[in-house]
Formats: sequence, structure tokens, C-alpha cells
Amino acid sequence: MGGTNPYIEKAEVELPTKSYTVTFVSIDKTVKVQVEPQKIPYGPTGLPGSLLDIALGAGVDLEHACGGVCACSTCHVIVKAGLESCNEGTDDEFDQLDEAPAITLQSRLACQCVPNGTMDLVVEIPVVNKNLVKEGH
Ligand code: FES
Repeated sequence: MGGTNPYIEKAEVELPTKSYTVTFVSIDKTVKVQVEPQKIPYGPTGLPGSLLDIALGAGVDLEHACGGVCACSTCHVIVKAGLESCNEGTDDEFDQLDEAPAITLQSRLACQCVPNGTMDLVVEIPVVNKNLVKEGH
């Protein structure tokens, strides 16, 4: 499933105009991705230019049980650096995020979080996300 969710508030996003990097850090590997504005969207899943779009385009394993439409919390990530360059999360995003285990003040849903390219980002993919999918929550 992909596309957008018509039942949620539309996120206000500002797409990047210059290239920047996102470093995805998970328990078993670190992948640095160069984001090129003209290549956005990388695929059909999540908001165009979102961290999920970027991750999937680069082959980074990031869960997305609802297909990137802000209807689950399996794409929970922690934006360790560069959060200031991302769009504001909507109430719908934070409602979903509340369902994720171990959220922090830097937590976002990767499918709804769109950086504007003015900063490089470091994004942690929490281990618990996978367990949540396996347990069928
Ligand atoms: S993939 Fe379901 S909320 Fe992001």
C-alpha cells in the first residue's frame, strides 16, 4: 500500500533545493545516504522526500506496516541530528507515535518527517520497531 491517507491532516512540508545527507543508524549497520532533490520522490511509500521515502530508496530496512500513511507506528525513528530542518509533526502523527514503544523528544514517524535539506541528519532506527511488527501489534 502507498499514497496518502485522506483521513489525516495534511503535513506542511518544504522540500529540499540542495543535496544533503541522512545517516541511518540501526543496531547492525550505519548507512549514509546522499539525498538529491531532483530524485524525490524515491518511491511511492510515505510522504515524498520523507525519511521513509529516502530510506527505502537507498535499500535501508525500515518497517512501514501501514504503507507510509500515518496509520501505524512501526516507522518510528529518532532524529538525533538535524531535527530542526524537518517539517512540524501533525497531531495525527504524534497520536500514532504515542503507540510506539520508547519514544523520545526526537521521535518522529519516518513516513511523515520531511527534511528541508538545510542540515545533514542522523537518524536512529530503534530495534523495538521490528519486534512490534513480529508480535503483530
Ligand atoms: S509507515 Fe505506518 S505510520 Fe509510517
